[in-house]
Parts: sequence; structure tokens; C-alpha cells
Amino acid sequence: MNEIKVFAPATVSNVACGFDVMGFALHGVGDEITVKRTPEQGLQVVAIHGAENLPMEADKNVATIAAQAFLDSLDEKPTSGFSFEITKKVKAGSGLGSSGSSSVASVVAMNELFGKPYSKEELLLFAMAGEAAISGQPHADNVAPCLLGGFVLVRDYHPLDVIQLDYPDSLYCTVVHPQIEIKTSDSRKMLKQQISLRKAITQWGNVGGLVSGLAKGDYELISRSLKDVVAEPVRSMLIPLFHEAKQGAIDLGALGASISGSGPSIFALSSSKEIAESIGNHFTSLYKEASIDALIYVSQVNPKGAEVIS
Ligand code: HSE
Repeated sequence: MNEIKVFAPATVSNVACGFDVMGFALHGVGDEITVKRTPEQGLQVVAIHGAENLPMEADKNVATIAAQAFLDSLDEKPTSGFSFEITKKVKAGSGLGSSGSSSVASVVAMNELFGKPYSKEELLLFAMAGEAAISGQPHADNVAPCLLGGFVLVRDYHPLDVIQLDYPDSLYCTVVHPQIEIKTSDSRKMLKQQISLRKAITQWGNVGGLVSGLAKGDYELISRSLKDVVAEPVRSMLIPLFHEAKQGAIDLGALGASISGSGPSIFALSSSKEIAESIGNHFTSLYKEASIDALIYVSQVNPKGAEVIS
């Protein structure tokens, strides 16, 4: 095989209470990467569509950094080089796991070209190398749901232990992506390195509640648990109309709403498509009235994750 095209979905990470440990995949939005073998050795980014200001240098682009981590793990060195054509449908700095999607699409493509030496779970570490390069820390709450699909909990990082969670079929997500960029690395620097025991207790109580509520399909419990006392109070300051967007979603029947990843995207979870779409209309008119460009997505949880297109 000399050429492959892979789609890797956008993701909502953190999911309110699960900072750095929870995330789920979305349908229909994400990155596509075509990787081709080339006679010249080495990795080369030949085109990036749908995004400006992303690095073309192989040692700076997350897709090629992740691909290099994959290559470094192999006993035999490749006999060809590889070119990468990247189509981004989510901008960098969106809070929708844009860098994670590129990293994942890249390692899935490389794995296919090499005859699948690794399982999807094993590919996670290589995709995380891309995340480490962009955010300063190798978190997996975007790359794990992007690769594996579904709703995931990263139970531990040392060693990596990723759990796929059960969730109700009728769970819907509405996302608004105001068109401003927040760099994950900057957004992480805003957070305190220490939190009080009181906040920690609240946060881990809610993580347990959310996992249990998802498993039982208990929407009341999901709703009570979608609270973040760690990142949202600090990061929401960077997001225009955050509080109006969140309150409006809850008034329309959302189970809860919070920041997607490190922002500026905001997500709301609902128990039906009708509620999710009405929240989408609320987000649209809120940002339109404020003359802020915004993209809206309504999606169920994507159970498949990254997939080969051709
Ligand atoms: N968990 C990460 C953070 C996700 O919140 O910084 C970044 O998209």
C-alpha cells in the first residue's frame, strides 16, 4: 500500500468535571489526512487546507511529530519517505481537539501503510506525542476518543489506562465554536497548579456521578454532575458570551453546558435531538446579535472514532 486517506473526528474533552480525563467524539467534523509513500526519505507536509498559520516543517507539525513517534518505535527503518496532505475542518485553537485529530489521523494512516502492526489502543502513545508538542503536556482526553470513538475516561496516565464508557443512545451534543483562537498552551498556563481539597472533592464526586449517570442513562444524575469548579471559572473569562450561552442552553433543557477542551468552543449535552437543535438556534442567534462569527454543530456521540476513507 502506497497511499491512504484517514478521517479523525473532532472531540469534546474535559466534559465539565473531567479535566484531562474525559472526552467524546463527534460526527461529521474533524480532519482528513492523505499520506503517500515518497522516494525521498523523511516526512514532508506538502499541503494544509482549511487552516492558516500551521507549521509546514515536519518537526513542528503535530501530524508529522506523531508519525515520527510511530516510526521511531519500529525495529526496521522505512525504505521510503512519506508526504502528508492535511485537510482541517476544525481550526486550531478551537477546543475541539483539532491537533488531536491531526495526530490521530496521521498515526492511523501510518499504521495502515505498515500493515497494522499496532492496535488502536497502542497507537495512543504516538498520537499523544503530537499533543505534547502543542500543549506542553501529553494529555489523552482528545486523542483517546478521537482514535477509539465513543465516550472515554482516561483512568490513569502512568501507565496509560483508557476506559470506554457506556452512554445513553439518545445523548446529543450541541457545540458553538466562536471564531476566535485560544491556544491550549496559554489556556493551560492560566490554571492553578494546586486546588483546594474542597474543590477536589466536588470535582471527583462529579466525575463519579457523570460516569454512573452515563452508564445508567440517568439524565438527572448526568445533569447534576456536569459541573466544573476547576477550569471553567478561570477559562470562561476568555470566551465571549460564555455565561449567556450556557444559561440559555440550560433554560432550553440542556443537561448541562461547559467549555469544550480549552475553549473557546462551548458544548451542551441534551437528552434529545429536538432540545439539541433548539440550543443550536439559541447559540446561533446569541452570537449573530453580537456580530461574532460562530460555527454550530449538533451531533450524537460518534462510536467509531478514526476511520480509513480510502
Ligand atoms: N484537557 C485539555 C485541556 C484539552 O483542557 O487543556 C485541551 O483541548
